[in-house]
Amino acid sequence: MNKLIVSLLLTLGISGVAHAAGDAAAGQAKAAVCGACHGPDGNSAAPNFPKLAGQGERYLTKQLHDIKSGKRTVLEMTGLLTNLSDQDLSDIAAYFASQKGSIGAADQKLVARGEKLFRGGDLDKGLPACTGCHSPNGAGNAAAGFPHLGGQHAQYVAKQLTDFRKEEGGRANDGDAMTMRTIARKLSDEDIAAVASYIQGLH
Ligand code: HEC
Ligand code: HEC
Repeated sequence: MNKLIVSLLLTLGISGVAHAAGDAAAGQAKAAVCGACHGPDGNSAAPNFPKLAGQGERYLTKQLHDIKSGKRTVLEMTGLLTNLSDQDLSDIAAYFASQKGSIGAADQKLVARGEKLFRGGDLDKGLPACTGCHSPNGAGNAAAGFPHLGGQHAQYVAKQLTDFRKEEGGRANDGDAMTMRTIARKLSDEDIAAVASYIQGLH
């Protein structure tokens, strides 16, 4: 099942829209305005602003297009991408992808439950292991566009899983296969808190 979803996503990805390759050096200057929230090198200080440093270029480019078009709602970024071209978005994505992501710490009370879910999923609920797509160390799969999760702020991760879980008004830009929406709907609040904390310390 898990392998099937992965190969399906890979196939969809390969036939998907190709974006121009980004230039990281050009992207650094264009990303100056982003640093206020995401940190100059993409390692944000505040836990509600996602770290972008070390995130896969393909995933970042897709999110920027989705945020710009309104397919993914980020109120804090309203209007910020309007005047940026496809090349600008690719350059900015290349810049943040080239930076080194920092790591946080997991809450020791939650780590066992979080690790179990991340590495093994939950057979009874039909929940696949997160490692299948996000890799055992949380590095993701940059070529396939599966995001890097390791070291990401737990608060941001928990919000994304909660948003994917919503039937309406949440985050619905995970494609027609609805991969993350299907997965998140199998997670309880306690599962989300545990796996998000585990991810924050993962590297
Ligand atoms: C005022 C603060 C703010 C500024 C400035 C800002 N962002 Fe964001 N950005 C956010 C927030 C908040 C989120 C997460 C929203 C959510 O919870 O889904 C986000 C999400 C993102 C994401 C998705 C990350 C992921 O892991 O999916 C990307 C990519 C991104 N921003 C890039 C940028 C770029 C590039 C710029 C500059 C052109 C920028 N942002 C400027 C606040 C900001
Ligand atoms: C079959 C592949 C697959 C599996 C299994 C999977 N994911 Fe994902 N995940 C994805 C893809 C693809 C995306 C990006 C969706 C998009 O393009 O917006 C994603 C996005 C995410 C995001 C948002 C990242 C960000 O920066 O905003 C989080 C958090 C996440 N997944 C957590 C998990 C957790 C926790 C599990 C296990 C319970 C899991 N995923 C299992 C494929 C998968």
